[in-house]
Amino acid sequence: MRKSSSWIEQRRKDHYFKLAKERGYRSRAAFKLSQIIKSYRFVRKRDQVVDLGAAPGGWTQVLIETVGNEGYVFAVDIQPIEPLDSPQTDFIELDITSNSAIEYLLKKLPVYVDVIVSDISPDVSGTWELDHFRQIHLAKSSLQITKKFLKSGGNFLIKVFQGNELDPFINEFKKNFRQTRIIKPKATRTSSSELYVLGLGFKRKKVVLN
Ligand SMILES: C[S@@+](CC[C@H](N)C(=O)[O-])C[C@H]1O[C@@H](n2cnc3c(N)ncnc32)[C@H](O)[C@@H]1O
Repeated sequence: MRKSSSWIEQRRKDHYFKLAKERGYRSRAAFKLSQIIKSYRFVRKRDQVVDLGAAPGGWTQVLIETVGNEGYVFAVDIQPIEPLDSPQTDFIELDITSNSAIEYLLKKLPVYVDVIVSDISPDVSGTWELDHFRQIHLAKSSLQITKKFLKSGGNFLIKVFQGNELDPFINEFKKNFRQTRIIKPKATRTSSSELYVLGLGFKRKKVVLN
C-alpha cells in the first residue's frame, strides 16, 4: 500500500525533530541551513555573519560551528533569544522593518560582513496570500539591510514563500549578485511553499563622491 504524502511529511518532520534533539540544536531548521552550506559552501571559517530572524537559535548554532573560533555571528530577532554558550556570537533585539533599523544596526555591526542569512518569517496566519505578502515585506527589509552591510563579493541566503510577489522580488534580488540559486533543501517539507534564494558574489554599488 502506498503511504499518503501527509504521512511521509510527518515522518520527515519527526525525523528532523528527533535529530535536532539528539544533536542539541534548537530548531529543525538547523538542518536546512547545514544542507545548504554543505552544497554551496557559501559560509567559511573566519567569516563574520549576520543571522536575521535568529530565534530560537538553530541557524546561529550551525553558523558558529561553521565560522569557528576566529569568526563571528550577529544574531538579530524581534524576540529575545536564550543566550548561546559561545563567545563567537552577539544578540541584537530588533524589528528589522522599523524605520530606525539600519541606523540602529550601524551602531552594532562592523562596516561590512562576509555573509548575511535571513530565515525571517511572520507568524503564519494560515491565509496563504496574506502570509506570502507579509513574508515578502520582511524579505525586502532583509535585502535593504544586505545592501547596506554586505561586503563586495559576499553571499546572502534568504527564505521566501512562493506566490505572486516572488518573481518581482527575485528579479530585484538578482541585480545585486553575480549568481543566484533557488533552493529547496531536503529538510523542507515537500508541500511547503518555502524556498531559499542564495545570492553569491554581492555587487556593491560604488559610491560616487563629488
Ligand atoms: C522560522 S523562525 C527562525 C528560526 C531560526 N532560523 C532557527 O533556526 O532557530 C523566524 C523568526 O523570524 C523572526 N521575525 C519575524 N518578524 C521579524 C522582524 N520584523 N524583525 C526581526 N525578526 C523577525 C521571528 O521572531 C522568528 O524568530
